[in-house]
Amino acid sequence: MDFKEILEKRRAINFFDPDKGISEELLGEIITRAAKTPSSFNLQPWNLIVLRDKEEKERLKALAWNQPKVVEAPVVLIVLADKNGWQEGHLIVEKNWQEMLKAGTMKPEQREWFLNAAKSLYNWSPEANLAFAAKNAGFFAMSLMFAATSLGLESHPMDGFDHEGVRKAFNIPENYWIPLLLAVGYRKPGLELASAKWRKSKEEVIVSFTQK
Ligand SMILES: Cc1cc2nc3c(=O)[nH]c(=O)nc-3n(C[C@H](O)[C@H](O)[C@H](O)COP(=O)(O)O)c2cc1C
Repeated sequence: MDFKEILEKRRAINFFDPDKGISEELLGEIITRAAKTPSSFNLQPWNLIVLRDKEEKERLKALAWNQPKVVEAPVVLIVLADKNGWQEGHLIVEKNWQEMLKAGTMKPEQREWFLNAAKSLYNWSPEANLAFAAKNAGFFAMSLMFAATSLGLESHPMDGFDHEGVRKAFNIPENYWIPLLLAVGYRKPGLELASAKWRKSKEEVIVSFTQK
């Protein structure tokens, strides 16, 4: 499937086939493909909670506007954005540092610079901190959707949920923001899709705030 086809095929699917599951292997392939997503300093401040269990999905559905797809989809991902994902001592930050040393893209004497650069960019305000986590995790979520499409699956992103309720119900630590939930599965048999939704034109996308 070429990229244009993936872009056109991906749709937010409201009704999933509850009888068609996703194997561990297939889910692993979706995540492995999406892991190619770029991130700030390659810090990859994202994690996923994978829900397959009906009772757990029912619990999530009650906190997500009772959207039926939360239970119908065989897999629902709670996408997590790690607001601490730039801090010295964080497991992945330190792994990233070691990998950069190994690859020769950073030298030991650049450690202070690296840590301070991340701190100054991502921790100068609570908004900057949240933006760091949410934008990177958002890119990852988009890749998950494209990866799912590329493997013949359907998906549906959702931000219609009670953020703090989900945090509490699934014991999610304070360092995480939850940018979205993502239902993944196969389309309900016989489901007719409405035509693709409108999109802004390039003229509506491009803006300028300076005088010519
Ligand atoms: C971050 C995000 C959150 C969304 N939340 C919901 C949601 O809670 N419920 C819902 O029915 N659709 C939700 N949508 C789906 C959008 O309405 C849908 O993607 C948009 O209308 C375009 O349709 P398409 O994805 O089929 O092209 C969400 C989409 C995104 C990207």
